[in-house]
Amino acid sequence: MEPGSDVKTTPRGFHCSLCNVNVPNKASLEEHVKGRKHQTLSTVRATRKSQEQHSVFVSGIKPDISQADLSEYFQQFGPVADVIMDKDRGVYAIVQFSEMESIQTALSHVEHRMKGLKLRVKPREKKDFKLIPKKKHDYENLQQVLERLKPELCQRACVNGQMQCVVERFQLGENEKKARGLLIQLLQEVFTEFFPDSQMLPFGSSVNTFDIHTCDLDLFLDLENTKVFQARAKSTTEQAGEGTSDDGRSEDSILSDIDLSTASPAEVLDLVAAILRRCVPSVHKVQVVSSARLPVVKFHHRELNLQGDITINNRLAVRNTRFLQLCSGTEARLRPLVYTIRHWAKVKHLAGNPSGAGPLLNNYALTLLVIFFLQNCDPPVLPTVDQLKDMACEEEECVIEGWNCTFPSQPIAVPPSKNTQDLCVLLAGFFSFYAQFDFAGSVISLREGRALPITDFLSQSKDEAVMEEEQPTKVHHHSPKLGPLNLLDPFELTHNVAGNLTERSQHSFQKECQEAEKYCRSLQYQRKSTKGKSWGLVRLFTPHDEVQCHKTQQGAAGKELTISVPFKPALLPEVLRNQLHMAGDSFRLLWFQRVCSAVERVFQDVLKCSPTLSTDTVFTEDSGISAAEVMETSLTDLNTSANDGSDGVVSSSEASPLAPAVVGAKRPLSSGSDTSLSPHGKKPRLASKASPDWPVWTWIQRHIVWAGRRKTRRELVKEVDSKPEGSNMELECQVTEHIIAKEPEVKDPLEFKVQPQLVGETESTRAVLKFQASDKTGHFQDFFHFLEAFLPKMVETLLEREV
Ligand code: UTP
Repeated sequence: MEPGSDVKTTPRGFHCSLCNVNVPNKASLEEHVKGRKHQTLSTVRATRKSQEQHSVFVSGIKPDISQADLSEYFQQFGPVADVIMDKDRGVYAIVQFSEMESIQTALSHVEHRMKGLKLRVKPREKKDFKLIPKKKHDYENLQQVLERLKPELCQRACVNGQMQCVVERFQLGENEKKARGLLIQLLQEVFTEFFPDSQMLPFGSSVNTFDIHTCDLDLFLDLENTKVFQARAKSTTEQAGEGTSDDGRSEDSILSDIDLSTASPAEVLDLVAAILRRCVPSVHKVQVVSSARLPVVKFHHRELNLQGDITINNRLAVRNTRFLQLCSGTEARLRPLVYTIRHWAKVKHLAGNPSGAGPLLNNYALTLLVIFFLQNCDPPVLPTVDQLKDMACEEEECVIEGWNCTFPSQPIAVPPSKNTQDLCVLLAGFFSFYAQFDFAGSVISLREGRALPITDFLSQSKDEAVMEEEQPTKVHHHSPKLGPLNLLDPFELTHNVAGNLTERSQHSFQKECQEAEKYCRSLQYQRKSTKGKSWGLVRLFTPHDEVQCHKTQQGAAGKELTISVPFKPALLPEVLRNQLHMAGDSFRLLWFQRVCSAVERVFQDVLKCSPTLSTDTVFTEDSGISAAEVMETSLTDLNTSANDGSDGVVSSSEASPLAPAVVGAKRPLSSGSDTSLSPHGKKPRLASKASPDWPVWTWIQRHIVWAGRRKTRRELVKEVDSKPEGSNMELECQVTEHIIAKEPEVKDPLEFKVQPQLVGETESTRAVLKFQASDKTGHFQDFFHFLEAFLPKMVETLLEREV
């Protein structure tokens, strides 16, 4: 099935059967088809199909028949590319030929005999490629966990007891730990055969004191000593001539095939995968994932029902695992807090990406958020990473890949905390801390134990700029990847461990913290029910019913016509980033002003809407804020200081009219630049009073400029335009002009109103555009639908080129 035939039209848009995804319109469909999921699945399907077409199914074999035997036997019908054995039972195999013709030759052979056995050779079954759906039973599973946990939790005397109960119920038992230890030992023995002197080092949840029954086994295969061994063996061999190396190891081991000093990580990982597949009993589903930030070999151990990951370049992870162990050893309250918060985050779909990659927090990031909160308690429960460094002695000094990873090796070196708050209070404190946290304006640093202003990270340092100029093709990792949640690794200070989060997942995290904070203020949280009702952690652990949650979101979205333009610092041009950096605390206002100016250009220049002189000042009838009140304070000072880069940056203390404007959740702001028409041709001003409203733009659209844009664009560029809609201002203007030239004016021009609003601080920074129109002709609905994808993209494009 070709990608085109994967898509079917539905009454609500389109359905992609390959990915089992619904999309509302053509623009989203195009994005989807070009996206990673669709592309990966298409490639996997094509590979599977090709494998199927090139292979035969062989049964009737016995375990003593090896892969090599089968490969040798089937060579008579054509070159054999691969033989996949049913390793555990050894009764069937799949033989893959390099050429399709070999299949017919093999199938038409009268009798296949090997080592006295009669083999059955059949064509492969043609199976439709199907996406294995995500575990649908997640909700049921979590519900079952809660049902089992509930009686025990309700019996405990207090929340502290409940949290201890969570640890007891979830942590690995002694036997489970022993089994994992034995598997590591076995892997160590096998890998030493191929990589002499290598070390198999566990890290992550199996050993970081936050283990749970289902946690995976993360392993780092340290090949440093093997490299030394190889170098030594090489020079000895060269001196002694061909033959055996100094310790008598044979030259024909697999290792002799690969020179670790020159091999690429991909080659080493392929070898690791081959060793796992062929030499470790009970290991199956071995897969190299080279697209991960740190490429990894994944495997599954059948008997232990255990998922394992082996990386070859992860010394920092082993060290940060030691750091987590130290924190747990120093502060006994950390484990119950982390276990409780991890479980809460799991049931609320905030953390834990099932396949490793995904838009949610990973458990490591969540644990760091707990530690950061504890560093910020009054008095602190845990010291900062810098303080820990100072507590270490000389022998404990440790630098990995240039990062200082020094901290004491024993908890005894860390003085006990003066904070005496109990677990119940600390848990509520965690929710309250992040419910109000200014994620969009901060970069969380466990190193310093404080939130650093995001503006410190917006300006590219001179050194970086010079380096990039000198080596433009090289990827420079000098600034963390900024996103909706910025959480620096405590050691690798340029790594944002929450860099994968989407706006939506960050938003959900904060919303859930706000919900939990509210609940923690109730008696139901704090006091045991005398009537046997649920209390304490039980409600926090009640899973979200996905369907219900989805419906609620849809319902809420249906009420208001809004389009959001999120603040994405990573995508902004350097000049604007520098200006925002200079603007300090007022960076949101400056950014919002630029967005409004871009929105105006999209309506006026790109979509050729005409502004009208409306008398409206506010969007909603009940706000009671007059235009005069709203236009009280000018943004001019802010613009001047940010643009000329002078020292006169508006600080929160100096800029009294601006300072309060960045405190609340929603701020009224001006919309345009000085040349701006909007709103109503007045100079942009900033309200000194907190108000949710701002004067509205009123626009008139006389042509259906949203219909047929793709076709017109294709005609104009006369070739396949690989860039998405909205990424080229001139082209989009031309598209509109063409449509206007061809299509007559509509009878009833479309009049609509737009009110921009800045959201920030306790919510992720974004410009929210509220729309209103009397949709007599039904055109507005289509227009709005088009704008949902087009407007944010076009604004992004204009912001990029504006400066
Ligand atoms: P996980 O996020 O998987 O945490 O990262 P975990 O504690 O093992 O939780 P499970 O496996 O989801 O139950 C595993 C380890 O990978 C390293 C850390 O050492 C972490 O303990 N890691 C992870 C990093 O070093 N950086 C990252 O950004 C993420």
